[in-house]
Amino acid sequence: MSLKEQLENLRQTSLQEIQKVVDLDALNQIRVEVLGKKGPITEVLRGMRNLSNEERPKVGAFANEIKSDLAEAIETRKAELEAKKAAAQLAHETLDVTLPGQSIKKGTPHVLTQVIDDLEDLFVGMGYQVVAGYEVEDERHNFEMLNMPANHPARDMQDTFYITNDLLMRTHMSPNEARDLENHDFKNGPIKMISPGRVYRRDTDDATHSHQFYQMEGQVIDKNITMADLKGTLEYTIHHIFGEDRDLRFRPSYFPFTEPSVEVDISCFRCDGKGCNVCKQTGWIEVLGAGMTHPNVLKAGGVDADVYGGFAFGLGIDRFAMLKYGVDDIRNFYLNDVRFLNQFTQEG
Ligand code: PHE
Repeated sequence: MSLKEQLENLRQTSLQEIQKVVDLDALNQIRVEVLGKKGPITEVLRGMRNLSNEERPKVGAFANEIKSDLAEAIETRKAELEAKKAAAQLAHETLDVTLPGQSIKKGTPHVLTQVIDDLEDLFVGMGYQVVAGYEVEDERHNFEMLNMPANHPARDMQDTFYITNDLLMRTHMSPNEARDLENHDFKNGPIKMISPGRVYRRDTDDATHSHQFYQMEGQVIDKNITMADLKGTLEYTIHHIFGEDRDLRFRPSYFPFTEPSVEVDISCFRCDGKGCNVCKQTGWIEVLGAGMTHPNVLKAGGVDADVYGGFAFGLGIDRFAMLKYGVDDIRNFYLNDVRFLNQFTQEG
């Protein structure tokens, strides 16, 4: 075989190999082998010294032509393989932005917490402070300081869970009135406080009773506070929670810690006062107890009852939530059934 034929053979086999190769590393390997100093072309060219002077440059030129052909073929193949690799990578990493996302379940405050938050916002806006207190109270704050000395019959109004002779689960939020009176210095301004929290009573649970529920106490003590202030405050609150259409009614009542005392009714939201089974045909629904703070309570808290006076009220958060949202069984608030709770998911 002449040198020229050998070179031509080499070109053909190398071109085939280049076409067949499928990865870039292997292609590089071929490049080194075919075009390198130890490669077959160099080898063939070594035989050139046996050629005549006339033929040598021709074969040399042919060899160079083959070299550059092969180099070009390798470059072309390299570009092809790189494009393929990039396409494969792109296909692999494709992100379909039109696929539906995974929805994230958002939590929401408990409906009772929502009512409390709403009331807190309202009263903080009127300059009230929010006071916490203790779920385990002593007799002094829960009863005595609220004008209910030992053996006072009014203690029976609130069936109490006792822990010791002196310690009990607070039966209402009014002990925080007593605590506030004790701690307050009127140099810092009047008392304007609310206190929402959990209270406990030895009641048998049914649709309208629970052995633990939520109340919010409110108290204002200053000079020259009148029942008109109480009425205005409660009207504003009731309208905020239940809407401007609700009428209010104050009924004389009795609490040991207020004098005079009232119970406050709102016109029935279901029948608008005409009478239905929600309001037991009366047209009115009782929503809270209130009154003008009893002088004995002021005195027990170390406040001069001749100078200062004010009002207090206590409302049932559960009852507010039941009336506002039409919930007919108080136990729903404590069963933590998400199907019930999800109805009160807040927007946004
Ligand atoms: N503490 C009373 C109750 O639990 C409610 C109340 C508070 C009444 C303040 C009058 C004044 O029933």
